[in-house]
Amino acid sequence: MPETQEKIIEKTVNFVQNELKNAEGGHDWWHIYRVWKMSLNMAAKEKADVFIVQLGALLHDIADSKFNDGDEEVGPEKAVQFMTSLKLDSKTIEHIEAIIRNISFHKTFEEKKFDSLELRVIQDADRLDAIGAIGIARAFNYGGHKNFKLYDPGIEPDLHMDKETYKKSDAPTINHFYEKLFLLKDMMNTSTGKRLAEDRHAFMKRFVDQFMNEWEGKL
Ligand code: ADP
Ligand code: NI
Repeated sequence: MPETQEKIIEKTVNFVQNELKNAEGGHDWWHIYRVWKMSLNMAAKEKADVFIVQLGALLHDIADSKFNDGDEEVGPEKAVQFMTSLKLDSKTIEHIEAIIRNISFHKTFEEKKFDSLELRVIQDADRLDAIGAIGIARAFNYGGHKNFKLYDPGIEPDLHMDKETYKKSDAPTINHFYEKLFLLKDMMNTSTGKRLAEDRHAFMKRFVDQFMNEWEGKL
């Protein structure tokens, strides 16, 4: 007998928690947890398939290429192997695989090859977790993990990077706000995502303004 959807989600949670137990703080289980919860809340409003959205959110960062020498195959392959072991039907497996292959920000450097309402919802939830208070915390945690500088007034943000340069960038973390985080507000897919992004964006802007004032010792 096929397992219930509830049981499948429970097994997926356990699998993801185990796979990510040594992950960097910005890409760990708690990032997945936040994206999962946010996608679930958004799915109801956007009338997306709740099971696909949950499964996609849970598996979307199972093996980020950033932590696998840039290899973009490890994540989707691991997810497909896991879903096959759960005997999910091939239509579901293919949809989740396509979501994982297309969700990432660096994919925006390429022509769009796949689209679905469920991808749009999860992508918005993932992008919301990259901005606002949590976005700031994640960016500096990642920068610290990679030993990037906080800021260097002599290194300008590069707004015209191609995909490979973006993936290899070791620029100061403040530059990442200009190169990615401030752009996300206008890239949201859903109306709920757009609304939530406004507040988080404004908060991040205030943070960077204050950072610059403090950097120059403004009284
Ligand atoms: P995606 O998960 O959509 O592929 P990224 O991998 O670029 O997006 O980034 C995920 C998160 O990792 C970002 O939101 C940010 O917090 C952090 N991050 C990625 N690249 C950098 C960077 N160069 N400097 C600081 N933080 C970064
Ligand atoms: Ni993510």
